[in-house]
Amino acid sequence: MKKIIYKKTAVSPANIAFIKFWGKKNPKLNIPFNNSLSMNMGSCLTTTTVEFNPRFRGDRVFIDSKEVKDDKKLRVIKIIDFVRDKSNIAWCVKVASKNNFPADAGIASSASAFSALALSASAAANLELSQKDLSILARLGSGSASRSIIDGFAEWKKGKNTNSSYAIQLAPPNHWDLRDIVVVVEKGTKKKSSTEGHAVALTSPFYKVRQNLLPKRIRNIKKALYKKNLKNLGEILEEEAIELHMIAMTSKPPIFYWNKGTVEVINKLHGWREKGLSAYFTMDAGPNVHVICLAKDAKKINSRLKKIPEVLFTITNKPSVGTQFSQKHLF
Ligand code: DP6
Repeated sequence: MKKIIYKKTAVSPANIAFIKFWGKKNPKLNIPFNNSLSMNMGSCLTTTTVEFNPRFRGDRVFIDSKEVKDDKKLRVIKIIDFVRDKSNIAWCVKVASKNNFPADAGIASSASAFSALALSASAAANLELSQKDLSILARLGSGSASRSIIDGFAEWKKGKNTNSSYAIQLAPPNHWDLRDIVVVVEKGTKKKSSTEGHAVALTSPFYKVRQNLLPKRIRNIKKALYKKNLKNLGEILEEEAIELHMIAMTSKPPIFYWNKGTVEVINKLHGWREKGLSAYFTMDAGPNVHVICLAKDAKKINSRLKKIPEVLFTITNKPSVGTQFSQKHLF
């Protein structure tokens, strides 16, 4: 009899949010207050292999070759338990995960990690989930992971409950040849995680103001994306990034992600723009800056960015496909 192997590998990109997910309506299920929009980051990938095996004694999770045993493991096993429930598999699991970008580069790895986990774990258990169900499973691990499942540019619809909160495609990767240059100005893991930021977001007096502004902003940024209008897209990107950080800075307790390098990069970028260069910034919950520009300008902008003394290094990303299978297992 042929031995069935319950082992699969997936690779998935991080994504940069154009409209941000900030604040959870249901923190346990990662249901957000607002829709969010993103582009996949083709150079920032997580590969994850999952195996269920009746011979394993105990669940084991390895991240970048190191076994993890704390909250990080619990977060992974939560997704594995969903899969075990759905597939009626009771066996223990081995999960191994590797990032192709430096762990301390401040790039949100939870989006690439939990989307890769959703596909590899469900497939290893022989579940054939639809794209919608994969997005929901990834979301349960980390909200932004719901968007990495999708190819190219995605919108995560907030939904009303767990089954209606998932991401859909707005445009394929080749729709628009944009670049996201991640400008790393600080290494090391961030002081306050996004999960902690979400938890206090609603204490900001500006949270409600932002929620009221979002529907129109989302309509406008979608228009800019479809029409490939970088000026309109970029102005909204900057508004969004500043607003996210303003909410963080006015939460109780306040969270300051910006550092000297952040401000330097933004000032330089604005100076170049006044002289005709078309490039705009956005940011995640950290000090690093993402510069969004057209492919044709990326080289020039990148070499200028690298000359700023506070800049440690940069990573240039193209829009990419979402979560895919890989034949190269990690173990
Ligand atoms: C600022 O998805 O990382 O990057 O669900 O707690 O894992 P958890 O949060 P996460 O939050 C992302 C915050 C953000 C904006 C965004 O990507 O939309």
